[in-house]
Amino acid sequence: MKGLREEMIAVFKPIQEETFCSVVQKSGCKGDREVAAFLLDHPALEGEEGFGRVPPTTIVRAKYYNGDRKTEWERGSLQGFIPNKKWKPKEFAVDDVQRLSLIDIRFGNNDRHCGNILKSNINGGRLIPIDHGEYFPMEWNNYTFI
Ligand SMILES: Nc1ncnc2c1ncn2[C@@H]1O[C@H](COP(=O)(O)OP(=O)(O)O)[C@@H](O)[C@H]1O
Ligand SMILES: [Mg+2]
Repeated sequence: MKGLREEMIAVFKPIQEETFCSVVQKSGCKGDREVAAFLLDHPALEGEEGFGRVPPTTIVRAKYYNGDRKTEWERGSLQGFIPNKKWKPKEFAVDDVQRLSLIDIRFGNNDRHCGNILKSNINGGRLIPIDHGEYFPMEWNNYTFI
């Protein structure tokens, strides 16, 4: 989603276009998980960053252009856009990597890989985790951490 000056300001992920959610074994369950990750990561004090720096995320309804056609009102998650640059693992601070590991273990992530980690342009290159639609598995007993 773009702002008034055509700059990127947010990322809308329509629930109807979600891929299969492995932690629930059905589709259409990722948007709520994206929001829950932000809420549970969020600090008690307003204005401070969350422990793992999950970007602000909420649920909205939006009309959007999906490449073929303009859609009607669709529900989805909306997340603040993080301007970012390419990164190599050694560029991240140990503290950032440990925070990422802790939130992934706490929330039970099934989808952490390099495409779901951003290096922010605007806060000294801090690590920003994204894509939390595969958090919160329903069957914790059958869940395997790798
Ligand atoms: N909040 C964000 N800020 C900047 N770029 C993002 C953000 N969320 C997603 N992206 C970009 O979109 C890509 C796909 O988003 P992602 O949330 O990983 O969706 P998917 O479920 O398709 O894997 C990411 O690899 C990243 O390049
Ligand atoms: Mg992803």
